[in-house]
Amino acid sequence: MNTKNGRWVQILDVSEIDDTNMVGFEIDDRQIAIYRIEDSYFATANVCTHAFALLSDGWLDGDTVECPLHGACFNVCTGKAMSDPAEIDLEVFETRVTDNIVEIFLPEEAHRMADT
Ligand code: FES
Repeated sequence: MNTKNGRWVQILDVSEIDDTNMVGFEIDDRQIAIYRIEDSYFATANVCTHAFALLSDGWLDGDTVECPLHGACFNVCTGKAMSDPAEIDLEVFETRVTDNIVEIFLPEEAHRMADT
C-alpha cells in the first residue's frame, strides 16, 4: 500500500505497448515513459537528464534504455544513470496493472511541479 500523498493515474491498456516495449506520454505537463520488461511495467521521466531528448525515442535493451541523442543509458527499474554523458538519475514512478490498464502513481510533488 502506498502511504505517500498522490494519486494513481490510468495510462494505457497493456495491448497499446508495441514491440519496442516502451511508450511515451504526457500527463499534467510531464513527459513520462512506460516500459514493459516481460510481464512487468516500469515508469520513468521520459526526458533525458543530460539535455533534451525523449527516451521513448531511443532503444530498450533488457532493463536499460539508451538515449537517442548522445547515447546515455539508464536503468528503467531504478532510474539510475549508467553511462556518460548523463550524471543525474531519472525520476521513477510506481506502477501497477488493474484490469489490463497500466497505472502510475503520481506523487504530490509531481502535482505541485506540474502546477508551476
Ligand atoms: S540528451 Fe540524452 S545523452 Fe544527451
